Amino acid sequence: MSDGAVRPAHPDTPDHPDHIDGLGELAAPDWFAHGERMMGVGFLTVARRLPSLVAQAVRMAWQASPRDTLATVALSLLGGVFTAFGLLATTGVLEALFSAGPTPERITAALPALAMVAGAAVIRTSLQAGAGWAQSRLDPQVSRIAEERLYGVTSRVDLVAYDDPDFHDSLQRARLRGVSTADSVVGTTINVLTGVIGIAAVAGVLGVLHPALLPLLVLAVVPDAWAAVRSARMRYTTMYALIPAHRRKWIIAALLADREPAAEVRSFTMRGFLMRMYDAVARAEQSVMLRLARKQMLARLVGEALGGIGTGIVYVVLGLLLIAGAVPLAVAGTAVLAIRSGQSSLNTLMFATNRLYEEGLYFTDFLDFCAEAESRIGRERPSDAPHFFERISVEDVTFTYPAADVPALRGVSVHIDQGEVVALVGENGSGKTTLAKILANLYEPDSGHVRWDDTDLALIEPHALRSRIAVIAQDHTRWPLTARHNITMGTDKGEPALLAAAEVAGADEVIADLPAGYATLLDRRFKDGKELSGGQWQRIAVARGFHRDAALLICDEPTAALDARAEHALFERVRRHADGRTVLLITHRLASVRYADRIYVLDHGKVAEQGTHADLMALDGIYADLYTLQAQAYAPDAARRESEGRPSM
Ligand SMILES: Nc1ncnc2c1ncn2[C@@H]1O[C@H](COP(=O)(O)OP(=O)(O)OP(=O)(O)O)[C@@H](O)[C@H]1O
Ligand SMILES: [Mg+2]
Repeated sequence: MSDGAVRPAHPDTPDHPDHIDGLGELAAPDWFAHGERMMGVGFLTVARRLPSLVAQAVRMAWQASPRDTLATVALSLLGGVFTAFGLLATTGVLEALFSAGPTPERITAALPALAMVAGAAVIRTSLQAGAGWAQSRLDPQVSRIAEERLYGVTSRVDLVAYDDPDFHDSLQRARLRGVSTADSVVGTTINVLTGVIGIAAVAGVLGVLHPALLPLLVLAVVPDAWAAVRSARMRYTTMYALIPAHRRKWIIAALLADREPAAEVRSFTMRGFLMRMYDAVARAEQSVMLRLARKQMLARLVGEALGGIGTGIVYVVLGLLLIAGAVPLAVAGTAVLAIRSGQSSLNTLMFATNRLYEEGLYFTDFLDFCAEAESRIGRERPSDAPHFFERISVEDVTFTYPAADVPALRGVSVHIDQGEVVALVGENGSGKTTLAKILANLYEPDSGHVRWDDTDLALIEPHALRSRIAVIAQDHTRWPLTARHNITMGTDKGEPALLAAAEVAGADEVIADLPAGYATLLDRRFKDGKELSGGQWQRIAVARGFHRDAALLICDEPTAALDARAEHALFERVRRHADGRTVLLITHRLASVRYADRIYVLDHGKVAEQGTHADLMALDGIYADLYTLQAQAYAPDAARRESEGRPSM
């Protein structure tokens, strides 16, 4: 097909003119999905998909507001009826005007029909205005339910979905365009219906006037339709071919304009490189758009020429019918008006149909994503979550991340008794965080069990259990909320609980320095928002963990960014069993796990060693190695003595 000359050449292929080394996933191939789908799309395919799209859009509109949906459709329909009525009344006017007799009398005779034409026009315009109003009321309501549906499911899917690249692809498609097209799909669907109603009204009028006039309508609208389809498809194939380029442009634009990379853009003097990359993509896009403009102009010229020929033929045939006496002059006059009105309805219809198809692709992305995400929401569990435990046991647990080649945990068994402080240590990537997430009931093991006493966690509602566990996460979130909400996380346990939690690792000192104290918004992107340092944020994260009423407190690297004083305060607190909690402590600061009731050493996803500090030093394995290494940095002699089995204290 000639209008598909713009190939969606992958901009990241080396022979592409705009190829820049190392763009890698910036030109993600998932965006080609629609490009390819659209390239091979003919008008029939579009037409076949329409009914189901219309049905889905109407269902969504109905869900948003039955009243406004009904009003939009009913008022549009009535508008069509009055269009037809106005056209028929026009015949009366023309008949009176074309009849024999003196002009004033003819005008007088035409007056009643003229009044009907005027009346019909007023009513039709009012109906159309009403339909427009109802439709514009629908838009924001549809947007709202679409967004709520999307974010309702994204926040509920099992966490493991976020480790699956396919999930991210479809989430991105649904989020970037899908969800925002929901309202326009509904609007466009209504425009399609309006176009159909308009044409039906005209066809009805022509049928009433004279059956021979119906084929004339077809003759008048087909060339226009052809030109419209051709031009629209040209635009869409181009747009789809451009999607990867757009995506690259967005990503580069974000690097140039967002706050997060702003510092590194400068410190690594990236500006020139990024601007060159941006310019390459933008120029490629510009030349494609200019080529499109020229081709569309040509198509329009051809379409209009053909349309002119079609209209010419219509007038010739009408003239012949008049001469043959098959239709009276008044009817022919009305037919001309009707055909013009049919052409304009057809324009609406063609434009709306093409848009509906394009938006429909994105809308389908949205619907597909919601359906997929809903299938990723964990099944209903029969049992209630236990409130307490005497022992938490992990039995022979194996876990592999989606799309990972090797398991992150292999046959891991650990236990934590109520009131204990248990430490997990091991090198980077050994599986500590993964095990912590399994204990927090965020991931489900592929095999093996996690139990609170006799209750298997696979059988209970995760939501209820999670509310009994507090996690100070290694990659904690910097919530763009006030300092208070960053600690309370939307709960309200009163001021004393808040202050006590903030005091643990010195978050209270951080907050005391903020201009509005606990009410300070911790987000620099907003006026009066404040930013914290990495360590200050970590103090807040610790306070958050201690604020939660939880039987089990999981601290994953809680001190990585803390200064010596804050770290000491926190570990002292943990050592004193964090005020009666059971603690799972993950840390690389081995000096602070000496006091743990039990230490597990993970190595490549397996428990390599376990026992108390003394047991593990005596074992002289991984732990003893790591411990001695760290201790040597501080007190070389003491470390040597201890590793030789002579404790220094
Ligand atoms: N979301 C994920 N998807 C796929 N693989 C992951 C994911 N998170 C971690 N991994 C892999 O699982 C393994 C264990 O990671 P984990 O985060 O549990 O290590 P860790 O012991 O906490 O390391 P660190 O000391 O660096 O925090 C690593 O090999 C890591 O690459
Ligand atoms: Mg970790």
